[in-house]
Parts: sequence; structure tokens; C-alpha cells
Amino acid sequence: MLSKDATILIGYSGHAFVVYDAFFSQRHTVVGYCDAVEKAINPFDLPYFGNEFDPAALLLFKQYTFFVAIGDNKIRRKVYVAMISQGFIPSSAIHRSASVSPFSTQGSGVLVAAGAVINPLADIGDGAICNTGCVVEHENVIGDFAHIGPGAILCGNVKVGDLSFVGANTVVKQGVTIGNNVTIGAGSVIIRDIPDGVTVVGNPGRIIK
Ligand SMILES: CC(C)(COP(=O)(O)OP(=O)(O)OC[C@H]1O[C@@H](n2cnc3c(N)ncnc32)[C@H](O)[C@@H]1OP(=O)(O)O)[C@@H](O)C(=O)NCCC(=O)NCCS
Repeated sequence: MLSKDATILIGYSGHAFVVYDAFFSQRHTVVGYCDAVEKAINPFDLPYFGNEFDPAALLLFKQYTFFVAIGDNKIRRKVYVAMISQGFIPSSAIHRSASVSPFSTQGSGVLVAAGAVINPLADIGDGAICNTGCVVEHENVIGDFAHIGPGAILCGNVKVGDLSFVGANTVVKQGVTIGNNVTIGAGSVIIRDIPDGVTVVGNPGRIIK
């Protein structure tokens, strides 16, 4: 039978340590991890269950929820979709110190890290990351498997497309729409809409790729 109070991490590197911290803050049990190889660095002494495709691990996913703790947006989506297609159940990791408005909505498999603020009428997509101390203001729409970096500030009514990454400490002006698959460099200031698939850096943000 599935326990919704205990989760297996898929991926166990730096980003997963932040995910573990969020679960721990909520007293939500992390029972172990899956990864391609057993990790030499295991700060939380988690048992290794092999690859998430291994038969033994597949049995465990019937008992426990999963969380894809992989920072890369495309890989995170690929693994998440594979797990969902097998009927497994995702959990979300919301740090106890985060401020998440009851008037906001979140998809499945979301990370809201320590100190992040999600304000009213914000809508966070499946598998999105709202990283440490970011501010997602009123009526923002954050796409599926997007990543809002540490300390980024998205003013009101900003839209961030699927799979896009907003670098640490970036500021996005109110009402701006950022396309899908966009990368925004750390510390950028975004004052105009950004098309799909580009990399933007600087103040004001300029397209470099
Ligand atoms: C934007 C970014 C992805 C570009 O990485 P990259 O493709 O390896 O690009 P490069 O380092 O080769 O830099 C390309 C150019 O952009 C400039 N640049 C890169 N990042 C920049 C930034 N954040 N702000 C301003 N300029 C930047 C470089 O100086 C370089 O300029 P030049 O061609 O005039 O020398 C990366 O620099 C970045 O900012 N990553 C985000 C880091 C972050 O927020 N991490 C949080 C993880 S949780």
C-alpha cells in the first residue's frame, strides 16, 4: 500500500540535498534514493535502491511516493514523465519556512525551497523549482519544469514558460512573458518579453544565444 508520508528521491547530488532539507523541515520521511550509481557523498545516510528502472526499485515505488531531485529541467521532466506513465505517485517538497499563499496553486512534484515566497494567485507548474528565497509575486504563471533560481524576484503577472531557467538574483519586471526553454543568467534584469529558446544576460537583459 502507498504511504504518502514517505518518499524516494530520484537523483542524489547538490540539488537533492536542498530537496531533502525541504522534506526534513516538514518531518516528511525520505526512505532512500535512486541514481545511476551509488553516491560516495551521502550526507543524510540514505540507503541506495539502484536505478529507478531496477525491478526492486519499481516495487518500492508502489509503497512510496517519488520526487525527481534533478536540477536539469529537461532530464527532470523526462524522468518525471517516465514515472507518471507507470502510475507512480509524485510528492512535492515545500520547505516549512517558505511562505506559500493559500490563494496560489501548485502542480505535482514541485520544490519550494527555504524562504521562498509564493504570493496570491500564482500558479506553479508540475515539476517546477522555486529555489531558496525566490519571490514569485501575485498572478505569476510558472511553467512545467521551470526553475526559478535562488533569490530571483518575479514581479506581478510575470509568465515563465515550460523548462525555462531564471538565474539566481534575477529581477523580472511586472507583466513580462518569458518563453519556453529560456535561460536567464544570474543577476539579470528582464524588462521586456523574451522569446522561446534563447539565453539572456545582463541589465537590461540581452540575448547572447
Ligand atoms: C547565463 C549562463 C547560463 C551562461 O553560461 P555560458 O553559456 O557558459 O556562457 P559563458 O560563461 O560562456 O558567457 C557568455 C557571455 O555571457 C556573459 N555572461 C555570462 N553569464 C552572465 C551573467 N549572469 N550576467 C552577465 N553576463 C554574463 C559572459 O561574460 C560572456 O560574455 P563575453 O562573450 O562578452 O565574454 C551562466 O553564466 C549563468 O549566469 N548561469 C546561472 C547561474 C545560476 O543562477 N545558478 C543558480 C543555480 S541554482
